[in-house]
Amino acid sequence: MKIITENEQETKKIAEKIAGQLEPGMTILLEGQLGAGKTTFTKGIAEGLGIERIIKSPTYTLIKEYMDGRLPLYHMDLYRLEDAEDEDLGLEEYFYGDGVTIVEWGSYMQDELPDKYLMIQISVLPGSDKRELIVTAQGEKYQQIMERLENE
Ligand SMILES: Nc1ncnc2c1ncn2[C@@H]1O[C@H](COP(=O)(O)OP(=O)(O)OP(=O)(O)O)[C@@H](O)[C@H]1O
Ligand SMILES: [Mg+2]
Repeated sequence: MKIITENEQETKKIAEKIAGQLEPGMTILLEGQLGAGKTTFTKGIAEGLGIERIIKSPTYTLIKEYMDGRLPLYHMDLYRLEDAEDEDLGLEEYFYGDGVTIVEWGSYMQDELPDKYLMIQISVLPGSDKRELIVTAQGEKYQQIMERLENE
């Protein structure tokens, strides 16, 4: 499924819609270059979950936990993991907990990622604020989320 957003607010709105359908133990993988809008999308998810703390990319840790919403939100940004790909950091435990895990730069821990997830690939359409969001799903529950999004 492909969605074009015109600005930051529209990207957040898509994320908020998805947030309403999330269940404990779900995973969202975000792909896209630096500045594509992965953290912006995460902010929309957080708003949709009713989280009021401001989402900032984790700088000194690989993960931040937000516990004040409808579900716990675990926000991973693995950008700085690049050189440590093979270390066992125990991050995978988050995927199977009772919260929602959202991952930026998940390709840096490919082997530990769950096999069911919703993936959003974001790309910048040059010369504008437009972004193309390609949504794919692995697993039945995630496919349902995508179908409902398509029907809206
Ligand atoms: N349609 C759009 N959707 C999302 N963000 C947009 C859009 N148009 C402009 N922007 C801007 O693009 C920037 C995206 O930054 P963001 O931090 O979300 O990217 P990122 O993918 O998380 O990058 P990084 O890999 O560095 O973490 C923000 O400044 C946002 O305001
Ligand atoms: Mg980011």
